[in-house]
Amino acid sequence: MTTTPEGVSLGMPQLPPPDYPDDVRARLEADARQVIARYPDSRSALLPLLHLVQSEEGHVTRTGQRFCAEMLGLTTAEVTAVATFYSMYRRKPSGDYQVGVCTNTLCAVMGGDAIFEALQEHLGVGNGETTGDGKVTLEHIECNAACDFAPVVMVNWEFFDNQTVESAKGLVDDLRAGARVEPTRGAPLCTFKDTARILAGFPDERPGAVEASGGAGPASLVGLRLAKGETGPARVVHPRGSEAPGSAGSSGPSGSSGPSGSSGPSGSSRDGASHDPAPSGQPSSKHLSSHDAPQDTSASDPDHPAGPAAEEGE
Ligand code: FES
Repeated sequence: MTTTPEGVSLGMPQLPPPDYPDDVRARLEADARQVIARYPDSRSALLPLLHLVQSEEGHVTRTGQRFCAEMLGLTTAEVTAVATFYSMYRRKPSGDYQVGVCTNTLCAVMGGDAIFEALQEHLGVGNGETTGDGKVTLEHIECNAACDFAPVVMVNWEFFDNQTVESAKGLVDDLRAGARVEPTRGAPLCTFKDTARILAGFPDERPGAVEASGGAGPASLVGLRLAKGETGPARVVHPRGSEAPGSAGSSGPSGSSGPSGSSGPSGSSRDGASHDPAPSGQPSSKHLSSHDAPQDTSASDPDHPAGPAAEEGE
């Protein structure tokens, strides 16, 4: 039967997919009822239910689509139409860690294209492909609204900011080795299946996970200050050095269930960018970039000492 490279059949209609084993079906049904009860119209629960079935198998299978259709009184065609529209739903077996390199304009010019190219070579996989050990699926992703921290790499939708080729290689090596990696900000990292369950709407019960968050990037805050007529710092510098996020030495990831969840990287706040007058040199952690800072701002340009916003306010 003819199939696309993604394994989508182009031939005769397929037979209905098999159902889940009875115990799995019973468990998923109980979960699904919880989700559906949150909505006045059951069909509105389709997106979280797709995450739920994805948390079971790591991708949205035909069995999962059939399950969603049956639970919501939809046709499988309706479910498939939604599952194939959103890129957060995977349609084939993939890795424990979805490594997405932002190759949108800003990240691309700041190094995202080079990172993506290097990771393809380093991992020996192309876009959307998974390493042989089943650990890492590489993909290029669109802007994740983190341009302040370009170039950005996302692992299971957690942010790894200001990456370089070397830091990104170190990141995927650690993921494959089972070493602990810590996102730059936000909740601790967990596997793709665990992430999918959280996205389905079930509580993230890891200590500190809910409290962990990330704020606006230092570059955005500089812009805000300038817009308010204030003078921004001469240079914007992210946390660096041995205490920076991603440093080695903390405990390893949980593999299937995620790390126990420290509330933040050791010695620094997750979003605690500092405003130092000068760079501190090469990063001590391979998860960190070497060129994320300093970022010259208009205030540091001798030709524009006060910055454009301040000029307007004067
Ligand atoms: S362009 Fe990469 S996060 Fe916006």
